[in-house]
Amino acid sequence: MKSFSDALKDGSVKLRDYVERAAQTGALDDRLFAVDLSKADAVDAAEFFDRTELVKNLETLVRQVLRRVSQGSGNAVYLLDTVMGGGKSHTLVYLYLLFQKRPLANSRPELREILRDEELGGVPDAEVVVFDGMNADPSLPFEEQPNIARFFKDGGGKDDVARSIEAVGKPVVFLVDEVLAYLAKRKEMWVSDLAFIRTLAEAVADTANSVFVATVPSDTSNQEGYKRLVAAFKEIKRKADLIHPQNPGEDFARIARKQIFKWVDGREAKEAAEWAHRMLEREGYAVDEKRYAECYPFHPMLIKVFTERFAVYENFQKTRDALKLLAWICARSKSLPYPFIGPGDVDLDERYLRDALTSANTFEIKNLSEIVSTDILPAKDDKRRALTALYLYSLYPKEEQRGLDRRDLFEALLPENGSASDLERLVKDYIRQEALYLEENKENGRFYFKEEVVIRALVRREAENIGDVTQELVKVVEEFSKEFGGHVSAALDSSEVYPEKLNLVFAPLNTQGEHAAEEYADKRGFFGVDSRSANAVVVVYPSEDAGVAEFEWALKQNIAVEVLKKRFKGKKHVLERLNEIGEEVRAEITAKFCSTYTSLLLYKDREKKHWRVQPRENTLQAYAEAVKQTLMEKQKAYFDPSKVNLELLFERLLGERSEVRVEDAYENIARSSTIPYLPRSVFAETLRLAVQNSIVGLADASQPTRLIHNLSGRGDGLLILSRERKAAIEQEEMTTATVEGSQGVESGGENKAPGQQKDVKGQGEPKSALRVKLTVSATALKKEDVRPVTILLEYAENAWRISREKDGDAFVEVKLSGNEGSARFKAVMDKVGKVKSFIEAFANAFEGEDHKLTLSVNLREDLAKQVEEKMAGRMKLAREEV
Ligand SMILES: Nc1ncnc2c1ncn2[C@@H]1O[C@H](COP(=O)(O)OP(=O)(O)OP(=O)(O)O)[C@@H](O)[C@H]1O
Ligand SMILES: [Mg+2]
Repeated sequence: MKSFSDALKDGSVKLRDYVERAAQTGALDDRLFAVDLSKADAVDAAEFFDRTELVKNLETLVRQVLRRVSQGSGNAVYLLDTVMGGGKSHTLVYLYLLFQKRPLANSRPELREILRDEELGGVPDAEVVVFDGMNADPSLPFEEQPNIARFFKDGGGKDDVARSIEAVGKPVVFLVDEVLAYLAKRKEMWVSDLAFIRTLAEAVADTANSVFVATVPSDTSNQEGYKRLVAAFKEIKRKADLIHPQNPGEDFARIARKQIFKWVDGREAKEAAEWAHRMLEREGYAVDEKRYAECYPFHPMLIKVFTERFAVYENFQKTRDALKLLAWICARSKSLPYPFIGPGDVDLDERYLRDALTSANTFEIKNLSEIVSTDILPAKDDKRRALTALYLYSLYPKEEQRGLDRRDLFEALLPENGSASDLERLVKDYIRQEALYLEENKENGRFYFKEEVVIRALVRREAENIGDVTQELVKVVEEFSKEFGGHVSAALDSSEVYPEKLNLVFAPLNTQGEHAAEEYADKRGFFGVDSRSANAVVVVYPSEDAGVAEFEWALKQNIAVEVLKKRFKGKKHVLERLNEIGEEVRAEITAKFCSTYTSLLLYKDREKKHWRVQPRENTLQAYAEAVKQTLMEKQKAYFDPSKVNLELLFERLLGERSEVRVEDAYENIARSSTIPYLPRSVFAETLRLAVQNSIVGLADASQPTRLIHNLSGRGDGLLILSRERKAAIEQEEMTTATVEGSQGVESGGENKAPGQQKDVKGQGEPKSALRVKLTVSATALKKEDVRPVTILLEYAENAWRISREKDGDAFVEVKLSGNEGSARFKAVMDKVGKVKSFIEAFANAFEGEDHKLTLSVNLREDLAKQVEEKMAGRMKLAREEV
């Protein structure tokens, strides 16, 4: 690949001197592109011929005019209508110089070839008469204009004029430019002027070998005038049809190359085109290699910007403005490291180019320069190239056709490294992260610059003003918590620990890395010696290498979306876009959450351990799964009873003892770090399995100990028995039963009360509950009393739950009363969490005052008893039977 810069150095391409000068001085001679028929005498004819590209139309016209003048054959009247490519005035000046500078013309190789074809020894001698409507005197009628008057002096009829023309004695070539401009200035006189112009043309048609060439610009804003002008010439005998440009795009590329370059090596052009082919083939894109060679060193897509896009703007001066811009672009591209000067290589930092390409007058958009300076100029390298190309292609009136899709963007830039997808990613990232005006058209995949700030950018601006993201993060953790179900309590920065659940405590975002996490856990006292639930806590924290800032940024953007939704209430299309962005941002939040909170800190075997979580994918489900998996694989916690090693677990729980209270065993699970943690519900199931498999036995708390087989609810107040102890009791029960049966004794043996015997018989079935109303009062609710009170509430809740399963009437009522002015609070126990926080708040507010807490318990007697026992040790209580 040979860069443009290298091609300049080795002479494969050579810039014209005026472009070289512009590159050095920073000033471009504007007059170079102003072709003015009335000043054709002042033109340096040699240079003009040199810089003229003999495009098809021009060549054909030259041949026809030569034939007419030399042989009188062919048409006498020509109407030139060129839109883009061959210039009208340029053509007339060419014809002018052809006849005025005959020796020079005869020496030009391209003209010599034409003359030979036409069997002419040289350009024939002819008189040239010029009328330039732009510079004509508007106070004079057409027939009195200086160059014209002599043909009308012997009368204004067609034949009179024809005679005057023939009287010249040689062919006369009439070159008429800018008729419309002249007629417009003539006000109501234009009708007669046009009649005289027509007469002149008709007269020329009647001569032997004179010719009349006039321009009729169809691209004028004066369409009415254009139609009248064309109609006026229509009836003329031997008229020519309008000469339209055949291939404006192709003509323009050739003209531009001729005007700007002294020399372009054809071999070099071909090689560069082959290179472009390879670049595009790499991505599987087809390519018009010939077009690349034709345009070289211009990129065909740069040419297209001018011929197909800018050309539709009325105030853009077609070929002239395009040439000027291209000359500047080339002057600024002398060190370009790519073979083709493409739409991405336009230097928008350069004043002239920037002004021209952001002109509100030309492109009918006011804030183009704002768009360029905020969205394009700060970018560098590849990004800058991509943005510049997108910008040029965004200058188009129809919004749906603005910009470039990934394929065309790739072609515009022809990057040696990287794919179309890489480019697409670059642009999309820019849209997401920085751009104010760049947008993606979802319907056709084009990236383009919009006039208004895009909504995505509004979100970013709003997000920049947001400070705290805690609330937003709490929501994410809550969302995540649902993935786990009831076994797990996940909360952000929470000091509340539930021993019956696995507590995933998410450390605040700034708690990054192992050291910070340990400090955090210490501060919260999670794993301290006096912690009763060290085994139930796992601190989840952002790893050292996590992108915390990005996560935070996504959270901020989500807050911003909500803020903007309120602001734009009622604006449907804004809301739709905000919802879309909201969805994207939330997906990003989920992904970032999963990739940020990837470290676990926990207590196992009396040590703090750090483990990594590696979710398969960044979804909350996969993440939850990964957390569970990690904890299970390392035997830290189980959520599935069937995975627990029952033998080992109960061996540990019982130790040397032959029996242990279920309640104490569970407390041990929550506290000890040497056994795996089991959520309470999992533990209950585990216990049931262990009983079923005769790994342990189970007994109620009666005297003497009696085995029970059917574990329902959570088994509070029951005893777990070792295998040996269970066997011993079985033995004993069998003996007793035999005695009872044989002796027919109604009441039980020595140690048995009649009521208890009834219990044993009815084991496992719900029986009518014996109710107690239990009132416990706690005086002087102080902050430090709150903890025991909340523990009590938890016990009460458990008892209530079990009781409720059997009997819908069960209730525990909490009343909080105080001295005058204090509130009275009452709630049912399925809102125990709320009751707890109320009590906490209450204690805070009325600290040091004397208040009473009353629990009214209406439960099955055995459960009521349990609650009573629990509370007795901690608080004074009063009991009332019902
Ligand atoms: N065949 C050509 N070879 C080289 N340069 C050309 C050729 N045709 C046109 N140009 C250049 O293109 C530019 C526009 O041409 P020109 O001024 O003749 O257009 P026009 O049709 O007269 O435009 P307008 O309608 O604005 O008068 C000029 O700078 C001219 O030099
Ligand atoms: Mg012109």
